[in-house]
Amino acid sequence: MIRELLKYANMPGAVSFGGGTPDPETFPRHQLAELAREIIENEYRYTLQYATTEGDPELIKQVLILLKRVYGLDGFSPENVLITVGSQQALELVGKVLLDPGDCVIVGDPEYLGALSAFRMRDARFLVVKFEKDGPDLNQVEAHLKRMQKENQLHRVKFIYIVSNFQNPSGITTSVEKRKALVELAEKYDVLIVEDDPYGVLRFRGEHIPPIMSFGGIDRVILLNTFSKILCPGLRIGIVVADKQIIRKLVLAKQGTDLCSPSLTMRLAARYLERYDILEQIKPAIELYRKKKETMIEALREEFSDVADIDWTDPDGGLFIWTTLPDVDTMELFKFAEQRKVFYIPGEAFKPYEEPSSSMRMSFCLPTFEQIREGVHRLKLAYMDYVEAKGLKCR
Ligand SMILES: Cc1ncc(COP(=O)(O)O)c(C=O)c1O
Repeated sequence: MIRELLKYANMPGAVSFGGGTPDPETFPRHQLAELAREIIENEYRYTLQYATTEGDPELIKQVLILLKRVYGLDGFSPENVLITVGSQQALELVGKVLLDPGDCVIVGDPEYLGALSAFRMRDARFLVVKFEKDGPDLNQVEAHLKRMQKENQLHRVKFIYIVSNFQNPSGITTSVEKRKALVELAEKYDVLIVEDDPYGVLRFRGEHIPPIMSFGGIDRVILLNTFSKILCPGLRIGIVVADKQIIRKLVLAKQGTDLCSPSLTMRLAARYLERYDILEQIKPAIELYRKKKETMIEALREEFSDVADIDWTDPDGGLFIWTTLPDVDTMELFKFAEQRKVFYIPGEAFKPYEEPSSSMRMSFCLPTFEQIREGVHRLKLAYMDYVEAKGLKCR
């Protein structure tokens, strides 16, 4: 659906807030080019050969160091880690290993579309909980679990999926209190948590929050991460951190999928992490995203100053703003936006079950500052066109 919607997003003069892809100017291309030559010439016995399914030991070593630096997570061994082809593959493998047809997953509304499609492939049923300003509605989480318990179906609830920081699509971060409470619920009803955190490092305001895994431990939580947003997505490197038994099952599933992740990109990432401090290197990109986000919020404030009902999230990091226009079906608005050559992703795409949405995902990472201002201006014009065509009142 999204591919279809964004078909014209690259046409000349268009402004797209659609894609969630990082700004290519932030990719360390010169360092990677130099390292790529070195590792092909000097380490060809590894880099041009099959790898083990678990992943490059050199990369896993670096991942364990990063887990400590980024999350304060310590004491894991290489057997707790699996390298995947992007965290999208990790989601697919988690679905393969944990879900039988008809099993349930607790997901948010809205929710990361790639996770929904990975779990849909396993015929999962979604138990949907509203995503509030500070994370999932925990009353709804417990209500689902209680109901399933009452119906003797609790064993069908396999895990709670959550993007803990700057969620894709809403930009919302789950608070510390909710992280702890979610773990308590998971323990009480004995379900796993799958914590997906591609954006946590991209924080441009406020303090880092400990991951859910730090409260639930490795027995309760499977942590997914990726180098896509902090290094570059083209390497296709994802990370799973989990209990050894779960990793073993994921490894078996991965063997049946692709034997191993690419040796070349795994070793490239490993040597990059060895030679450069990725957390220092990423700082200019974070600053760029902060400025772009500010520009988008300012533009929304200016352009929509006469629309009382509009609401948007103001994330402390990540790549997305979630804008809501009550009374508007953003799928219908899309046609008007297309006419004005501005693109976004309608909220409907992030609904676990198909239903209209009055929200939209606006990504600020790729457009220039000028395009952000111009795009928001066009969005306002499209909104006015929509209001007029529908005979609505601009509130
Ligand atoms: C929440 C979330 N999980 C997983 C992914 C997949 O990332 P990748 O496969 O590039 O590692 C994305 C990509 O946008 C994402 O937003």
